[in-house]
Amino acid sequence: MKKVKIALLGLGNVGTGVCKILNTNKEEIRNRAGYDIEIAKILVRDVNKKRDVNVPEGVITASPEEILDDESIKIVVEVMGGTDPAKDYMIRAMKAKKHVVTANKLAIATLGDELIGTAKEEGVMLKYEASVAGGIPIIDTINESLTANKIKEIVGIINGTTNYILTKMYLENMDFETALKEAQEMGYAEADPTSDVEGYDAVYKLGILTSLAFGTKVDSDLIYREGISNIKSIDIEYAKEFGYVIKLLAIVKEIDNVLELRVHPTMISTRHPLANVNDSFNAVLLKGNAVGDLMLYGRGAGDLPTGSAVVGDIISILKDNMEIKNEVNKIELSAKQINNMENTESQYYIRATVKDVPGVLGEISAILGNNNVSVLSVIQKSKGQEFVTIVFVTHKTLEGNINKSISAIEQLSSVQKIENVIRVENGIK
Ligand code: NAP
Ligand code: HSE
Repeated sequence: MKKVKIALLGLGNVGTGVCKILNTNKEEIRNRAGYDIEIAKILVRDVNKKRDVNVPEGVITASPEEILDDESIKIVVEVMGGTDPAKDYMIRAMKAKKHVVTANKLAIATLGDELIGTAKEEGVMLKYEASVAGGIPIIDTINESLTANKIKEIVGIINGTTNYILTKMYLENMDFETALKEAQEMGYAEADPTSDVEGYDAVYKLGILTSLAFGTKVDSDLIYREGISNIKSIDIEYAKEFGYVIKLLAIVKEIDNVLELRVHPTMISTRHPLANVNDSFNAVLLKGNAVGDLMLYGRGAGDLPTGSAVVGDIISILKDNMEIKNEVNKIELSAKQINNMENTESQYYIRATVKDVPGVLGEISAILGNNNVSVLSVIQKSKGQEFVTIVFVTHKTLEGNINKSISAIEQLSSVQKIENVIRVENGIK
């Protein structure tokens, strides 16, 4: 059997998962890849840290040169995260004619041009299946299985940490902080969980999916983003009352050659196909003009699910016999126009704290009506206190109409605060 040496940059959650899979499924992997894989080196920050896998002596190192300058290492697996020094190491590896596998959505989404450009120039393979939706093979599905289609729309739950938090808040009334701590303990969250909680991680993943599915460059900064930190247990309770669940959705739709791109918490009906995607599971709903509606579902984070995608990429490189392709076919991607959020359409949930005085409901309803927003339902529960909570759910309207309404409602002396505005989506069109 042929032998191949690979190296890992990182031995955290994902790196550990990769090692475990390569050990546990050794026979199957050897047969499928046609190679005996040896992990020759693993780069870490702290060589003395206790690890969750047994690694032979001399393999763990703090010196990147031991990997990047070693000609016998043919594949470098970047599972360290961040952009600096990860990007530099990946570029150096590719310039040394090593193939690269990465799980790093931040690097691919924000520095993909340079990384993919280098891979093409050097004729090496750069694979990043694990960067989106953990164990779900969404990138191969778009790149291979669905290439006969024009993709018109993708709606997904593509962050495991926030889905875990929202599930725990919804099903177990757990508070936000406890749920986040649990997600961190399970190894789902990014090193800085702000990336998960505030929707950046989902934005990077949506950018990657969009560039592949719509053949366009996407600047992550232009994707509309809202995280889940403003979702309170009271919003979850109202969602239940209306027959909704709250999910952090990543959405891209192409309408008349313009892309609508957004990541935000969304109320969806309990009958929506994404409503029962819970815990760290992810799901991607996709509409192709030939295949129609398609849904992929699986673990979106964690050591083994993510490791599954990483090892799959390693095997795919080995199946191609680590070929260095000298004839490079460079396809330059151009950017598509991105829709202004003011022009997107949705239903809206609006929660406000108001003075319990006669006429307040009429004043708010009048403002909504004057801005072409029609109300589907209103709930005001408590009475007799100075301030009460009032909740509106609107019919579908333009975001611009809602923004104008909110600005006017906030000026009313009877309104103390607009506490939250959450979009309500009723399904893939
Ligand atoms: P992690 O647990 O924080 O592990 C990072 C590893 O990289 C650690 O072993 C760390 O060394 C090493 N490292 C970090 N910076 C380094 C540096 N400058 N020099 C040398 N070693 C360095 O991270 P993770 O959760 O495995 O995530 C890794 C990557 O996979 C990230 O890009 C993440 O976005 C992506 N990803 C993660 C998941 C998931 O479920 N966790 C899923 C999909 C994709 P020490 O151990 O010595 O600190
Ligand atoms: N932090 C990420 C998540 C890891 O929670 O989805 C998987 O990309």
